[in-house]
Amino acid sequence: MNLQRKPLGLPANFAWQRKDSTRAKSRVAELCVFFPISISPVLHCEWEVERLKVIGKVKQRVEDLRGLIDYHNYRYYVLDSPEISDAEYDELMRELRQLEAGHPELITPHSPTQRVGAPPVEAFGVVEHPEPLLSLANTFSYEELAAWHKRATALLARRSFDLVCEPKIDGLAVALTYVDGFLAIGATRGDGYRGENITQNLRTVRSIPLSVPKEAPPRFEVRGEVYLPKAGFKKLNEQRAKEGLPLFANPRNAAAGSVRQLDSSITAKRPLDIYVYALGWAEGKAVPDTHWEIMQYLESLGFKINPSMVLARTIEEAESHYQDWLESREGWPYEADGMVVKANEITFQQEMGSAAHEPRWAIAYKFPAVQGTTRVIDIGINVGRTGSLNPYAILEPVRVGGAIISQAALHNEDDIHRKDIRIRDSVVVQRAGEVIPEIVGPVVSLRTGEEKIFHMPSRCPVCGARVIKPEGEAMHRCTNAACPSQALERIKHFVSRGAMDIDGVGEKLCLALFNAGLVRDAADLYYLTREQLLGLERLADKSVSNVLNSIERSKNRPLARIIFALGILHVGQEYAELLAQNFSSVDELAQASQERLLSLPSIGPRIADSIVAFFEQEGNRRIIEKLRRAGVRLEKAEAKEVKPKELPLTGLEFVITGKLETFTRPEAEARIKALGGKAGSDVTKKTSHLVVGAEPGSKLAKAQKLGAKILNEAEFIQLLEEKV
Ligand code: IVH
Repeated sequence: MNLQRKPLGLPANFAWQRKDSTRAKSRVAELCVFFPISISPVLHCEWEVERLKVIGKVKQRVEDLRGLIDYHNYRYYVLDSPEISDAEYDELMRELRQLEAGHPELITPHSPTQRVGAPPVEAFGVVEHPEPLLSLANTFSYEELAAWHKRATALLARRSFDLVCEPKIDGLAVALTYVDGFLAIGATRGDGYRGENITQNLRTVRSIPLSVPKEAPPRFEVRGEVYLPKAGFKKLNEQRAKEGLPLFANPRNAAAGSVRQLDSSITAKRPLDIYVYALGWAEGKAVPDTHWEIMQYLESLGFKINPSMVLARTIEEAESHYQDWLESREGWPYEADGMVVKANEITFQQEMGSAAHEPRWAIAYKFPAVQGTTRVIDIGINVGRTGSLNPYAILEPVRVGGAIISQAALHNEDDIHRKDIRIRDSVVVQRAGEVIPEIVGPVVSLRTGEEKIFHMPSRCPVCGARVIKPEGEAMHRCTNAACPSQALERIKHFVSRGAMDIDGVGEKLCLALFNAGLVRDAADLYYLTREQLLGLERLADKSVSNVLNSIERSKNRPLARIIFALGILHVGQEYAELLAQNFSSVDELAQASQERLLSLPSIGPRIADSIVAFFEQEGNRRIIEKLRRAGVRLEKAEAKEVKPKELPLTGLEFVITGKLETFTRPEAEARIKALGGKAGSDVTKKTSHLVVGAEPGSKLAKAQKLGAKILNEAEFIQLLEEKV
């Protein structure tokens, strides 16, 4: 297809492609910032005129490309109906990136290239919601729903009113503010009144429009649910399992974890999506006066609305949709935990108003959890790459909500005992869509006396080495660093995507190489010969060349990848990135003291200890030497001294006492650390600030005596904001 051509079939209200004089004016204003002289009324010389012409052309093409890309994004991500191939789309993006690289002054935050994420921020800013984001009351039965409806009709003094029914998606509520046609702020719900500013992260969500047509109100706020589709959730967890990272319990946690990343390039890698479900507020333009029409209106502005949304004239009709959804929701590409029923007329909504934190005009009618009963045949154990013994239940296969379940994760021994799950127990299993099935608990009334209480073995089921349970940890671990299961898992981790990304060396080949005794640790990969590989079954000449080439290519991976690939306990991709920013080589990291590690933002004692312990181990040091000898780069491309950054709270030590309203304690401590401060648990002479929440303890008197600065919660938040 001809990529120059403007797309056909644009909706009448689609303004991205049109010449828009106000938009053009504001672009000129933007340019003036970058070219104060050349845009001035007096053009100094012909050269200047020529330069402007070129820039003008580039600018035009850049704008055209942005229009095209936004349009095709919309077709692909919102309408789910692409008009061009991925390759053609990539070509448009490539051209735009190239032009922007040559003319960085033309880059604006609204360019589709900026969806890839920006450099990490130190902490999120706080956004005040002009209109609070309320939550919803729940009902679990038709009787409760009918009772709500009765109260509502009484309030309105009417017999009936129109309702809108929408799936209640299990994701994360966000508020998107658009100003003069562009996405200006994206925020979390927070406590309903103040949320976190996650604009950078939300910009990476492809189905969130970065700009809206000129017909849109000059200022408005749209609300919706950001979520991770079932398929994306499954893929993400599979990848995390491979990397030895803790799995997300459900798509909601995964979405929240993805959206609240300090580094938006991580968010950009997660396949997040959105459905909008309300217009928060709008200024400067009249908007429709029913919820249903508002949704259509938002759709016409480029927002994604849920196609399952339906209008119901009566509460009985709503119930009948609910019954249909109980069947059809298995096939939805996202996780929904109920139906939201809303009054359609905005005036009725206003008349009914809200009580405390919940509107009276809407209610969440929850779906029952999908459960089934089966038996635990046995409890098996996998040994992970860090030596953790991961128990899982082997179940008699059972159908739960459309899927056959034959295994369930059991986390750890304490968890098994807490739930009192025994081998041969009848158990209730629960599944929420793609979530890993879990055992709710045993059916004690069905016990026969033959059930056996499970105990973690004292020896590793793979290598027979002693098993320990480190203090303060939930997991049992195999103590043998040379445990074959650990060794094999570590090799698999080393070659995996986020790590050294050695194409062609997958799990099967790792196993074959390991079983053949050719690769005992990751460094052995770099000493493989063509003959050895050809000796393996089913490896043809060509694949051997490919494997050897990708192993060779992996020698020059960035420092963060090699740090991650080493498989240090608790050091996932994100921490590896942080370490690579603060150390210039693996050797420098290996020599880092615990103190130095603790001085880095967001590194606590658990991770610092683990890093130090890793490099103390002889076996690990040997592998690093072997990697070095093989020519694997163990430092930054251009090694240079990187000093830890001076951050706004560097040198200050905070202690928190009492209960805070806005944050949990770990959240508050994370904020302090992100700004370079320390968070202590006891008041000492070093304590510079004491943050006092509700019902403070004895720390207050002690801090006053020692002369620490005392902050209430509001003052603390203010301090964080000032320093962001
Ligand atoms: S309406 C005042 N509609 O549910 C109206 N909420 O428990 C409040 N949610 O925070 C929101 N899908 O995150 C609404 N179609 C939908 C929804 C929805 C999911 C979430 C939302 C809200 C929570 C309330």
